[in-house]
Amino acid sequence: MQRRCPLGFLGLAACRAAPGERSGTFGPAVDSTRAAPIRAEAEVLENRCEGGVNHRLRLRAAEWPGFAPGQFVMLSPGALGAAPRSDPLLPRPMAVYAEGPEPGSLEVRYKRVGRGTALLAAASPGERIRLLGPLGSGFVAPPSGVPVLVVAGGTGIASVYALVRSLGGSNSVRVLLGAQSVSDLVGLDDFSALGVDVRVATEDGSSGAHGLVTQLLEEALAQTPAAHVYTCGPTPMMRRCAELAQERGATCIASLENRMACGFGVCLGCAAPLSSGGMALVCCDGPVFDAARIDWEGLA
Ligand SMILES: Cc1cc2nc3c(=O)[nH]c(=O)nc-3n(C[C@H](O)[C@H](O)[C@H](O)COP(=O)(O)OP(=O)(O)OC[C@H]3O[C@@H](n4cnc5c(N)ncnc54)[C@H](O)[C@@H]3O)c2cc1C
Ligand code: FES
Repeated sequence: MQRRCPLGFLGLAACRAAPGERSGTFGPAVDSTRAAPIRAEAEVLENRCEGGVNHRLRLRAAEWPGFAPGQFVMLSPGALGAAPRSDPLLPRPMAVYAEGPEPGSLEVRYKRVGRGTALLAAASPGERIRLLGPLGSGFVAPPSGVPVLVVAGGTGIASVYALVRSLGGSNSVRVLLGAQSVSDLVGLDDFSALGVDVRVATEDGSSGAHGLVTQLLEEALAQTPAAHVYTCGPTPMMRRCAELAQERGATCIASLENRMACGFGVCLGCAAPLSSGGMALVCCDGPVFDAARIDWEGLA
C-alpha cells in the first residue's frame, strides 16, 4: 500500500514507504478530507510579547486553508531577510493555536527559547515569514459522553487549546496545565474563557497546586477512571500520563514534540520508537498518537 505524502508533490521515499518497510506499524493515515498544506510568505499582522519568553504571533496568508486541532506549521526562524537563510537553516514547528479574526489568518503562541524563536520574536508587523502547513494529523474527537482530561505543559499548552475549543457540550472537560512557575503558563485566560474546568500545578507553587501536573491527573483519574486523556508537553510528563492512564485502563492520546527539520517526512529526523518495534515519523504519522503505541523508554 502506498502512503500519501502530506505534500503530495514531493513523492519522496519516506512518505511512500509501505508499512512493513519502516516499522510494521504506523500512526493514523493522513486523512484525505484534511486541507492540503500550503507554502506561503505569510504577513505578520501582530507579534507581541505576553510576558517573559511567551509570545503571540498572528499571521495572514491568503491561501491559508484552515486547520484541524493538533496540526502544526513550519515557520522560518524569523522574518525574510532578517538572517542569512543558512543561519539558522531550518524552519521551526509550531502548533496552530487558533484561526485569527481576519480571513486567512492564524495564531501561534510560542516561547522564545533559542536563536530561531528569538528571530521570530524580532519580526514586525508587515514583515513576512515563510510558512508551510497545516501539517500532521489532528486530534480525533473523543466518543460522546466520555469525560475528557487534557494535560499540558510548557510549549504543549499551545497544541491543545484548539482541541479544547473544539469539544462540544457532549463531553465534560477538565484542563490540567503544568508549568515551572506562573510566568511560564500560557493561555490560562483563553482556556478559562471557554468555560471549562481549568486546574493548574506549578513546580515552585507560585500558582495552583504545588507540584507536578501529573499529580492532578492521578487525582482526576481516581475519580473518573474511564476518562479520555489528551496530553502534550515535555516527554517525561507525557510518559507519566501514559502510565497513569494505562494503570486505570483509560485511553491516552499524546501529541509528541520531537525536534523536526523538514516537517513532512523527508529528513527522518523526528522518528519516534514504537512499543511494537520500529519507528513512526512524528511529523507525518503524528504528531498525535495513541500513547500506548509509543515506546516511552526509547523516546526519553
Ligand atoms: C509539532 C510541534 C509543535 C510545536 N508547537 C510549539 C508551539 O506551539 N509553541 C512553542 O513555543 N513551541 C512549539 N514547539 C517547539 C518549538 O518548535 C521549539 O521550541 C523551537 O523549534 C525552538 O527553536 P529555537 O531555534 O528557538 O531553539 P533551539 O536553539 O533550536 O533550541 C533551544 C532549546 O530548546 C530545546 N528545544 C528545541 N526544540 C525542542 C522541541 N521540539 N522539544 C523540546 N525541546 C526543544 C533545545 O533542546 C534547546 O535546549 C513545537 C514543536 C513541535 C515538534
Ligand atoms: S521526517 Fe523530517 S521532520 Fe519528520
